[in-house]
Amino acid sequence: MEVFFGNSGTEAVEGAIKLARYHTKRDKLIAFYGCFTGATLGSLSLTASKSTQRKNFGTLLGGVEHIPYPYAYRCELGHTKETCGGEIIELLEQQIFKRLFAPEEVAAIIVEPVQAKAASSRRRCFPAGTSAHLQQTRHHADPG
Ligand SMILES: Cc1ncc(COP(=O)(O)O)c(C=O)c1O
Repeated sequence: MEVFFGNSGTEAVEGAIKLARYHTKRDKLIAFYGCFTGATLGSLSLTASKSTQRKNFGTLLGGVEHIPYPYAYRCELGHTKETCGGEIIELLEQQIFKRLFAPEEVAAIIVEPVQAKAASSRRRCFPAGTSAHLQQTRHHADPG
């Protein structure tokens, strides 16, 4: 096991982006609306919490797409905790992977288990079921 000591969350995310791109030789990154992953330029490209956090910093990293964060407790689409999150997998497969890029081009999907800094100021938790779905979806992206 290797350990990376950093001074901040954003440094950890910068390291994760570089490691994922270097190791996979892919450039696409998927993050969730509402996430706060840091304020340096790479991490800020994933951050999608408040537009003021990105304002006046110009074009950020390319290859980044954002998708809605599933939130079973107050699901905007009326899902229950059992079904919430399925629409994310559907969106990934039917929109992102079909229309934008193939899963083989994805270096990483960055997930906050708890979104604590979302613009709504409410803490939101990622449904356990969705994590399992994401693990299944991963097989599309994993090298054969
Ligand atoms: C999930 C997550 N990642 C990254 C960061 C960025 O951390 P820092 O402010 O230490 O750079 C935060 C900060 O709140 C965070 O909540």
